[in-house]
Amino acid sequence: MSYTWSSAAEDLARRAIARYPEPRSALMPLLYIAMQEDRNRGKAHLTDDGMRKVAEMVGITPAQAAAAASFYTMYKLQPVGRYLISVCTSLSCWLAGADDVLHALEEEAGAPSGHTDEEGLITPEHVECIGACGGAPAVQVNYEFVEGVDPDRVREMVRWLRSERPECVSGDRLQARFGGCVSFPWAIPDPTGAVGPVPAFSPLGTESTSPNGAAAAEAADLPAPSPTAGNGDIPMILTARMNEHPDTSHTLARYEATGGYTALRKVLGSPGMAPGEITEEIKAAMLRGRGGAGFPAGVKWSFLAPARPSYLVVNADESEPGTFKDRQLMERDPHQMIEGVIISSYANEVHNAFIYVRGEYPKAARRVQAAVEEAYEAGYLGRGILGSGYDLELVVHLGAGAYICGEETALLASLEGRRGEPRLKPPYFPAAKGLYMMPTIVNNVETLANVPWIVRNGAAAYAAIGPSGSPGRRMCSVSGHVNRPGNYEIVEGLTWRDLIFDLAGGIRDGNRLKAWVPGGASSPWFVPEIHLDTEVTKEAIDGHGSMTGSGAVIVMDETTDMAAAAERLVRFFAHESCGQCTPCREGTTWLDMILRRIMEGHGRPVDADLLLDVSDNISPGLRWPPAMTTICALGPSAVSPVVSLLRYFRGEVDDHVRAANQVPVVIGGPR
Ligand SMILES: Cc1cc2nc3c(=O)[nH]c(=O)nc-3n(C[C@H](O)[C@H](O)[C@H](O)COP(=O)(O)O)c2cc1C
Ligand code: SF4
Ligand code: FES
Repeated sequence: MSYTWSSAAEDLARRAIARYPEPRSALMPLLYIAMQEDRNRGKAHLTDDGMRKVAEMVGITPAQAAAAASFYTMYKLQPVGRYLISVCTSLSCWLAGADDVLHALEEEAGAPSGHTDEEGLITPEHVECIGACGGAPAVQVNYEFVEGVDPDRVREMVRWLRSERPECVSGDRLQARFGGCVSFPWAIPDPTGAVGPVPAFSPLGTESTSPNGAAAAEAADLPAPSPTAGNGDIPMILTARMNEHPDTSHTLARYEATGGYTALRKVLGSPGMAPGEITEEIKAAMLRGRGGAGFPAGVKWSFLAPARPSYLVVNADESEPGTFKDRQLMERDPHQMIEGVIISSYANEVHNAFIYVRGEYPKAARRVQAAVEEAYEAGYLGRGILGSGYDLELVVHLGAGAYICGEETALLASLEGRRGEPRLKPPYFPAAKGLYMMPTIVNNVETLANVPWIVRNGAAAYAAIGPSGSPGRRMCSVSGHVNRPGNYEIVEGLTWRDLIFDLAGGIRDGNRLKAWVPGGASSPWFVPEIHLDTEVTKEAIDGHGSMTGSGAVIVMDETTDMAAAAERLVRFFAHESCGQCTPCREGTTWLDMILRRIMEGHGRPVDADLLLDVSDNISPGLRWPPAMTTICALGPSAVSPVVSLLRYFRGEVDDHVRAANQVPVVIGGPR
């Protein structure tokens, strides 16, 4: 029987292809369409026929389509039930009891992770970080978030899905019904350490305008952070709107009513600003990239090679365990980022820009897509923007589950419709050989969200905020064993003590602080004995051998088994390795296996040295910043937790190994 799609799907696919400069770039949206079509005809997975059809439509071979589809976890090549329940077991969720949630889910569903119940209804799966670390433990049902769950709630969820069988699941409804007590405080710390007024904030993933969202917000019982004086004249840059107007901050009307798109008018109006002038302004502001490396954005822009066309790609693939800031910026204030994209594109003579949103962020993608449509309608995007001669097309592109696509060259490969495999730099620096081998700017969501404020208020105003090396405000996602997890918009210069004990409310249950991850899963750990009263500034963090990275702080208290914590992080990197480089592919797997056997009571006396030896093969010399034998920095990132564990907590590893070796010996045996 011939394999065909509905006319609606055919039409959707044709429109998707037309949005990209090259048809192959439509591979990912088309694979989603194929999966949906296959499901509509009763197949619970992406079929070979579906992939073949997509390959034909975008002009590649079926083998190329299958190779790409198999790279991404969200394309299901094996049957899944009507409800896919994904439990995050990465570090922040594990610290909050995610393993118990997963076991309860598997038991109630009657199917182990990755398998489907007998009825074909429910598939439990365990996944790596889904960007809800502040609401840990977090799960997704068909990729809609439910945060703050526990084993009882997840059991109840399975029973409810079985009895109600809802046609579609809404994240807000699920959160209201099954979510726990989650609140996301925003805070304004003063560089001197005093904590500013903190407006209450509704839970992520819920709409406080909707009845369900309101219920969830009411259910939140974490104490509201207490307002104190002191932040005075340091303005909020990124989160002011969402704090003041939590119900409407994502809309164009609210954005325009609160100064939105005035920077764009300043740039494209009369007398306007020349592209080079904007780049100089961003340089003078010393706006550092917020995606991980902290490279100054203006300097990056000035490296853009002269060949044209050039492209701009927003890195919204946020997936580093502990990081959930970009998600909030996109869900709550998408126009801020979009205005930044338009101005930055103009500055770089770009006429085609893309926002690559992580596949597991459906709400953020919906919000960004809606905002892009509003911006087109209002004349901020498209041809002759605001009556000027400047044209820009902006496409929202959805990823499909692969952390490595956050690495910029992998992101571009993915956007071209390929496996998300990093490319060697040099020669593939995006500014020279980026998307379709043309000059490309890749910037993080938060980086670009800063641009309108800088253009509106001037570089000098921005540079005057906080330390000169990394001025402005930045988002800091705090999770783990703190009383008030959440995103905080900070000015660098406070101390870790301020951040953990004042802003984030201190350690749960009055426990002792044991260690923290200061800048995302890749960053070397800090410990209170050495680092608690050091400053949260790029210079100080670099100086102490770690990095600000993605701004994710994961706090661990005295009850944490540090070998197990390291294993969670290493497991993440082993899972996410793209497999191109032998030291990374094999090394991360070995590191994980060795750590596991240590924790499971089978450790050997040589294991600590073996861990270091394997690590040294990935990152020679084990120094910081890391050297590497690999194409990208993922490999050395996996080494970070291992070296941190053995630097600060080797005694715990030795204890595990000693306990493992205490096997009772019976001399002579039984008679
Ligand atoms: C393994 C790996 C994962 C990364 N993941 C992300 C990510 O999720 N989001 C992001 O913005 N940058 C990520 N980066 C950094 C990007 O490669 C790139 O430096 C960044 O998007 C540039 O934007 P910025 O200069 O505005 O920070 C990652 C880098 C590596 C090596
Ligand atoms: S270091 Fe790891 S993730 Fe990066 S390219 Fe090599 S194998 Fe892939
Ligand atoms: S959502 Fe679980 S660790 Fe991030």
